[in-house]
Amino acid sequence: MRKKVVAGNWKMNKNLQEGIELAKEVNSKVKAAGTKEVTVIIGTPFIHLSEVNKIVDPTVVAVAAQNCAIEASGAYTGEISAAMVASTGSKYVILGHSERRSYYGETDEILVKKVQRALENNLEIIFCVGEVLAERESGKHFEVVKSQLENGLFNLPADQFAHVIVAYEPVWAIGTGKTATSAQAEEMHAFIRKTIAGKYNQQVADNTSILYGGSCNAKNADELFSQPDVDGGLIGGASLKAEDFSTIIVARAKH
Ligand code: 13P
Repeated sequence: MRKKVVAGNWKMNKNLQEGIELAKEVNSKVKAAGTKEVTVIIGTPFIHLSEVNKIVDPTVVAVAAQNCAIEASGAYTGEISAAMVASTGSKYVILGHSERRSYYGETDEILVKKVQRALENNLEIIFCVGEVLAERESGKHFEVVKSQLENGLFNLPADQFAHVIVAYEPVWAIGTGKTATSAQAEEMHAFIRKTIAGKYNQQVADNTSILYGGSCNAKNADELFSQPDVDGGLIGGASLKAEDFSTIIVARAKH
Protein backbone atom coordinates (compact mmCIF):
# COMPACT_ATOMS: atom_id res chain seq x y z
CA MET A 1 0.00 0.00 0.00
CA ARG A 2 1.17 3.49 -0.73
CA LYS A 3 2.41 5.80 2.00
CA LYS A 4 0.80 8.99 3.23
CA VAL A 5 3.52 11.62 2.94
CA VAL A 6 3.92 15.24 3.97
CA ALA A 7 7.18 16.74 2.74
CA GLY A 8 8.44 20.24 3.36
CA ASN A 9 10.53 22.06 0.78
CA TRP A 10 12.32 24.88 2.56
CA LYS A 11 13.81 26.13 -0.74
CA MET A 12 16.52 28.79 -0.14
CA ASN A 13 15.24 29.87 3.27
CA LYS A 14 16.66 29.77 6.82
CA ASN A 15 20.32 30.10 7.73
CA LEU A 16 21.90 27.15 9.52
CA GLN A 17 20.96 28.26 13.04
CA GLU A 18 17.38 29.06 12.02
CA GLY A 19 17.13 25.75 10.19
CA ILE A 20 18.29 23.82 13.25
CA GLU A 21 15.66 25.57 15.37
CA LEU A 22 12.92 24.83 12.84
CA ALA A 23 13.94 21.18 12.54
CA LYS A 24 13.89 20.82 16.35
CA GLU A 25 10.43 22.36 16.51
CA VAL A 26 9.07 20.20 13.70
CA ASN A 27 10.53 17.07 15.27
CA SER A 28 8.96 17.75 18.65
CA LYS A 29 5.58 18.77 17.26
CA VAL A 30 5.34 15.71 15.04
CA LYS A 31 6.39 13.45 17.90
CA ALA A 32 3.74 15.00 20.14
CA ALA A 33 1.08 14.67 17.43
CA GLY A 34 1.73 10.92 17.26
CA THR A 35 0.96 10.79 13.54
CA LYS A 36 2.97 7.63 12.92
CA GLU A 37 0.99 6.73 9.80
CA VAL A 38 2.34 9.79 7.97
CA THR A 39 5.86 9.82 6.53
CA VAL A 40 7.20 13.28 7.33
CA ILE A 41 10.11 14.66 5.33
CA ILE A 42 11.88 18.00 5.47
CA GLY A 43 13.79 19.21 2.42
CA THR A 44 16.49 21.56 3.64
CA PRO A 45 19.30 23.45 1.90
CA PHE A 46 22.42 21.29 1.39
CA ILE A 47 24.44 22.88 4.17
CA HIS A 48 21.75 22.03 6.74
CA LEU A 49 21.51 18.34 5.92
CA SER A 50 24.19 16.98 8.20
CA GLU A 51 23.19 19.00 11.26
CA VAL A 52 19.47 18.47 10.77
CA ASN A 53 20.01 14.72 10.45
CA LYS A 54 21.70 14.75 13.87
CA ILE A 55 18.75 16.55 15.43
CA VAL A 56 15.70 14.74 14.12
CA ASP A 57 14.52 11.34 15.28
CA PRO A 58 14.66 9.30 12.06
CA THR A 59 11.56 7.38 13.13
CA VAL A 60 9.67 10.70 13.19
CA VAL A 61 11.19 12.97 10.52
CA ALA A 62 13.26 12.08 7.45
CA VAL A 63 15.48 14.54 5.63
CA ALA A 64 15.67 15.38 1.92
CA ALA A 65 18.02 17.37 -0.27
CA GLN A 66 16.43 19.64 -2.87
CA ASN A 67 18.72 18.63 -5.72
CA CYS A 68 21.82 16.61 -6.56
CA ALA A 69 24.50 16.73 -9.24
CA ILE A 70 24.31 14.88 -12.55
CA GLU A 71 27.82 13.50 -12.18
CA ALA A 72 28.98 11.03 -9.54
CA SER A 73 32.12 12.96 -8.51
CA GLY A 74 34.99 14.97 -9.88
CA ALA A 75 35.88 18.46 -11.06
CA TYR A 76 32.43 20.08 -10.89
CA THR A 77 33.00 23.15 -8.75
CA GLY A 78 30.09 24.02 -6.50
CA GLU A 79 28.11 20.84 -7.13
CA ILE A 80 26.86 18.37 -4.50
CA SER A 81 26.69 14.70 -5.43
CA ALA A 82 24.01 12.19 -4.51
CA ALA A 83 26.68 10.25 -2.58
CA MET A 84 27.41 13.35 -0.50
CA VAL A 85 23.71 13.80 0.22
CA ALA A 86 23.44 10.15 1.31
CA SER A 87 26.52 10.51 3.52
CA THR A 88 24.70 13.13 5.64
CA GLY A 89 22.10 10.53 6.62
CA SER A 90 19.47 11.99 4.28
CA LYS A 91 17.13 9.42 2.77
CA TYR A 92 15.39 11.51 0.09
CA VAL A 93 16.12 13.94 -2.71
CA ILE A 94 13.66 16.25 -4.48
CA LEU A 95 14.28 16.25 -8.24
CA GLY A 96 12.70 18.12 -11.13
CA HIS A 97 11.20 20.95 -9.12
CA SER A 98 9.74 23.55 -11.50
CA GLU A 99 12.11 26.18 -10.09
CA ARG A 100 15.05 24.00 -11.09
CA ARG A 101 13.50 23.26 -14.46
CA SER A 102 12.81 26.92 -15.25
CA TYR A 103 15.64 28.84 -13.53
CA TYR A 104 18.46 26.32 -13.94
CA GLY A 105 17.50 24.74 -17.25
CA GLU A 106 16.94 21.22 -15.96
CA THR A 107 15.69 19.20 -18.89
CA ASP A 108 14.19 15.71 -18.92
CA GLU A 109 17.59 14.38 -20.09
CA ILE A 110 19.35 15.96 -17.10
CA LEU A 111 16.71 14.61 -14.75
CA VAL A 112 17.07 11.06 -16.06
CA LYS A 113 20.76 11.22 -15.06
CA LYS A 114 20.04 12.74 -11.65
CA VAL A 115 17.44 10.05 -10.95
CA GLN A 116 20.10 7.42 -11.76
CA ARG A 117 22.64 9.03 -9.41
CA ALA A 118 20.06 9.17 -6.64
CA LEU A 119 19.09 5.51 -7.06
CA GLU A 120 22.74 4.41 -7.15
CA ASN A 121 23.07 5.98 -3.71
CA ASN A 122 19.88 4.45 -2.31
CA LEU A 123 18.07 7.76 -2.08
CA GLU A 124 14.29 7.83 -2.40
CA ILE A 125 13.16 10.37 -4.98
CA ILE A 126 10.43 12.99 -4.83
CA PHE A 127 9.99 13.74 -8.52
CA CYS A 128 8.08 16.92 -9.40
CA VAL A 129 5.86 17.41 -12.42
CA GLY A 130 3.37 20.14 -13.31
CA GLU A 131 2.18 22.51 -15.99
CA VAL A 132 2.49 26.29 -16.30
CA LEU A 133 -0.63 28.46 -16.49
CA ALA A 134 -0.59 28.86 -20.29
CA GLU A 135 -0.47 25.07 -20.67
CA ARG A 136 -3.49 24.62 -18.41
CA GLU A 137 -5.40 27.41 -20.10
CA SER A 138 -4.80 25.83 -23.49
CA GLY A 139 -5.89 22.42 -22.20
CA LYS A 140 -2.41 20.87 -22.52
CA HIS A 141 -1.86 20.08 -18.83
CA PHE A 142 -2.43 16.32 -19.08
CA GLU A 143 -0.16 16.07 -22.10
CA VAL A 144 2.61 18.08 -20.35
CA VAL A 145 2.52 16.00 -17.17
CA LYS A 146 2.41 12.75 -19.14
CA SER A 147 5.47 13.79 -21.10
CA GLN A 148 7.36 14.75 -17.91
CA LEU A 149 6.61 11.30 -16.47
CA GLU A 150 7.50 9.46 -19.67
CA ASN A 151 10.70 11.38 -20.35
CA GLY A 152 11.95 11.71 -16.77
CA LEU A 153 10.94 8.46 -15.11
CA PHE A 154 9.55 5.78 -17.39
CA ASN A 155 12.97 4.53 -18.41
CA LEU A 156 13.09 2.95 -14.94
CA PRO A 157 12.22 -0.71 -14.40
CA ALA A 158 9.39 -1.26 -11.90
CA ASP A 159 11.71 -2.21 -9.02
CA GLN A 160 13.48 1.16 -9.35
CA PHE A 161 10.28 3.10 -9.91
CA ALA A 162 9.19 1.81 -6.50
CA HIS A 163 11.67 4.32 -5.02
CA VAL A 164 9.86 7.28 -6.58
CA ILE A 165 7.23 9.54 -5.02
CA VAL A 166 5.55 11.75 -7.61
CA ALA A 167 4.71 15.35 -6.67
CA TYR A 168 2.18 17.16 -8.84
CA GLU A 169 2.94 20.85 -8.54
CA PRO A 170 1.03 23.07 -10.97
CA VAL A 171 3.46 25.93 -11.51
CA TRP A 172 0.66 28.53 -11.37
CA ALA A 173 -0.10 27.44 -7.81
CA ILE A 174 3.46 27.58 -6.45
CA GLY A 175 3.99 30.47 -4.05
CA THR A 176 1.01 32.31 -5.52
CA GLY A 177 -1.61 31.60 -2.86
CA LYS A 178 -3.73 30.22 -5.71
CA THR A 179 -4.24 26.56 -4.82
CA ALA A 180 -5.62 24.03 -7.27
CA THR A 181 -9.14 23.07 -6.24
CA SER A 182 -9.39 19.64 -4.70
CA ALA A 183 -11.26 18.56 -7.86
CA GLN A 184 -8.44 19.80 -10.11
CA ALA A 185 -5.86 18.06 -7.92
CA GLU A 186 -7.82 14.80 -7.83
CA GLU A 187 -8.37 14.87 -11.59
CA MET A 188 -4.64 15.19 -12.27
CA HIS A 189 -3.60 12.71 -9.57
CA ALA A 190 -5.99 10.11 -10.94
CA PHE A 191 -4.57 10.79 -14.40
CA ILE A 192 -0.99 10.35 -13.12
CA ARG A 193 -1.95 7.07 -11.45
CA LYS A 194 -3.64 5.85 -14.63
CA THR A 195 -0.56 6.80 -16.64
CA ILE A 196 1.68 4.86 -14.23
CA ALA A 197 -0.67 1.86 -14.44
CA GLY A 198 -0.49 2.05 -18.25
CA LYS A 199 3.30 2.00 -18.19
CA TYR A 200 3.82 -0.55 -15.40
CA ASN A 201 0.67 -2.11 -13.93
CA GLN A 202 -2.15 -1.29 -11.53
CA GLN A 203 -0.27 -2.62 -8.52
CA VAL A 204 2.72 -0.35 -9.15
CA ALA A 205 0.33 2.58 -9.63
CA ASP A 206 -1.56 1.78 -6.43
CA ASN A 207 1.71 1.63 -4.51
CA THR A 208 2.95 5.02 -5.75
CA SER A 209 2.46 8.00 -3.45
CA ILE A 210 1.35 11.08 -5.38
CA LEU A 211 1.69 14.39 -3.54
CA TYR A 212 0.08 17.73 -4.30
CA GLY A 213 2.16 20.91 -4.07
CA GLY A 214 1.30 24.55 -4.68
CA SER A 215 0.02 26.89 -1.96
CA CYS A 216 -1.04 23.95 0.18
CA ASN A 217 -1.45 25.30 3.70
CA ALA A 218 -2.88 24.64 7.15
CA LYS A 219 -6.33 25.78 5.98
CA ASN A 220 -6.75 23.92 2.69
CA ALA A 221 -4.74 20.72 3.37
CA ASP A 222 -7.69 18.90 4.89
CA GLU A 223 -9.86 19.36 1.79
CA LEU A 224 -7.03 18.41 -0.59
CA PHE A 225 -6.13 15.29 1.41
CA SER A 226 -9.75 14.14 1.44
CA GLN A 227 -9.35 13.21 -2.25
CA PRO A 228 -8.68 9.51 -2.89
CA ASP A 229 -5.65 9.97 -5.14
CA VAL A 230 -4.02 12.79 -3.16
CA ASP A 231 -1.62 10.88 -0.91
CA GLY A 232 -0.05 13.91 0.72
CA GLY A 233 1.61 17.20 0.04
CA LEU A 234 4.86 18.88 -0.92
CA ILE A 235 4.76 22.07 1.07
CA GLY A 236 6.78 25.21 0.44
CA GLY A 237 5.93 28.37 2.41
CA ALA A 238 3.85 26.65 5.07
CA SER A 239 6.69 24.22 5.88
CA LEU A 240 8.71 27.14 7.25
CA LYS A 241 6.32 27.44 10.21
CA ALA A 242 6.39 24.40 12.48
CA GLU A 243 2.85 25.04 13.69
CA ASP A 244 1.36 25.18 10.18
CA PHE A 245 3.45 22.24 8.97
CA SER A 246 2.29 20.06 11.85
CA THR A 247 -1.35 21.08 11.26
CA ILE A 248 -0.91 19.84 7.67
CA ILE A 249 0.55 16.55 8.94
CA VAL A 250 -2.38 16.09 11.32
CA ALA A 251 -4.78 16.78 8.42
CA ARG A 252 -3.05 14.05 6.40
CA ALA A 253 -3.31 11.58 9.26
CA LYS A 254 -7.05 12.21 9.55
CA HIS A 255 -8.16 10.79 6.20
P1 13P B 1 4.36 26.76 -1.90
O1 13P B 1 3.73 25.80 -0.92
O2 13P B 1 5.10 27.88 -1.23
O3 13P B 1 3.38 27.22 -2.92
O4 13P B 1 5.49 25.93 -2.68
C1 13P B 1 5.17 24.70 -3.20
C2 13P B 1 6.42 24.06 -3.67
O5 13P B 1 7.00 24.49 -4.65
C3 13P B 1 6.93 22.91 -2.92
O6 13P B 1 7.94 22.27 -3.60
